[in-house]
Amino acid sequence: MPARKKKFSRPSTKARRPAARSAVKPRGKQAKPLAVTGPADGILRGVEWRGGLDDGALILLDQTRLPTVIGYQAIRALEPLRQAIIDLVVRGAPAIGIAGAYGLVLHLVPFALKAKNSSTLEKPFAVAFERLVTSRPTAVNLKWALERMRDCFQRHLSDLTALELCARLLMEAKRIHREDAELCARIAENGARLLPKSGGVLTHCNTGALATGGVGTALGCIVQAHRDGRQIQVFADETRPLLQGARLTALELQRAKVPVTLICDSMAAHLMQRGKIQAVIVGADRITANGDAANKIGTYGLAVLAKHHGIPFYVAAPYSTFDLSLKDGMLIEIEERKADEVRRPQGTQFSPADVPVANPAFDVTPAALITTIITERGVIHKPEKGGVAKLMAGNYSEPAI
Ligand code: MRU
Repeated sequence: MPARKKKFSRPSTKARRPAARSAVKPRGKQAKPLAVTGPADGILRGVEWRGGLDDGALILLDQTRLPTVIGYQAIRALEPLRQAIIDLVVRGAPAIGIAGAYGLVLHLVPFALKAKNSSTLEKPFAVAFERLVTSRPTAVNLKWALERMRDCFQRHLSDLTALELCARLLMEAKRIHREDAELCARIAENGARLLPKSGGVLTHCNTGALATGGVGTALGCIVQAHRDGRQIQVFADETRPLLQGARLTALELQRAKVPVTLICDSMAAHLMQRGKIQAVIVGADRITANGDAANKIGTYGLAVLAKHHGIPFYVAAPYSTFDLSLKDGMLIEIEERKADEVRRPQGTQFSPADVPVANPAFDVTPAALITTIITERGVIHKPEKGGVAKLMAGNYSEPAI
């Protein structure tokens, strides 16, 4: 029986119109407790804003506890958010950008409730920007989202009161969030058709709904291809040291009913040699002007292996992941994380307690090893031959639905 073709639905028109006016009115000084429960529609979402302006909170699905515990944190202030980003409670390049945008609002509202003049927000805005932008340095989506919020802040500083400005910023954060869902849906459509009609597809780390505001990037392509009837068998790398592949990708694919087999990172070469992998698809944390792509540590090795075995290597990412200010990937700052993440994975000691450790969280895949970069705007085949700057110049504008 042919598989039924189902497309990811775009956000509805209704969901796309935020209630800006009602958000301006403070609803009283006491923040109401928010019910923190599992998702009604069954889709695990990493980031959600609940409530209004003065009683709102950022609800983060605690990704450090998945897949065994589906637990949420309600974040209402800057420092807890910064810590949640550092600890990977919220993670994935687009998702941390969205969380950072909401975080600016959370920090500013208490100041706006005390003073009418919006200029009183300038210093708190700068402080929050700095605290957030330094929390995870490699994924450029965080910096991109914070800069977009800063542009909005500066544009409206002289014509809005402090509280109105916060309401405008909340609208902008929701817009970034909604827009990311739209970008993911388009990337999924563009990427699904590149995947094989049947065969093995290898992916690394986690690039699904948990990592974005929508259906995901690389994982969105995979799920769309499955829904389109492609007979793909996914191999998910466990993704040492923090196991995003084992804990998150395996979970998301199982929930989406996509056939998935979990492998240790070191098994990829063997599976390629035995003809089990027909394509590799991954996400990205930053793509530079020449098409080099930073992604979770281990991605570069997979690209080298794919080249050796003549297997196409795809990178899927939205425009917010491109950093055209950097000419190549060697200029990307690579986040170095705590040694104990390697010595004591998931809290269990694996090595001598004091053995020196290297723990770079990302690596850079040179453009020459990438077959195609998949974006919401279309695809860039052979990115080492140019084409990134041309496709990525200019900002995204949401299509009117
Ligand atoms: O350290 P993480 O878990 O935030 O790393 C995530 C990745 O490397 C993803 O592949 C990348 O952010 C793309 S998410 C759509």
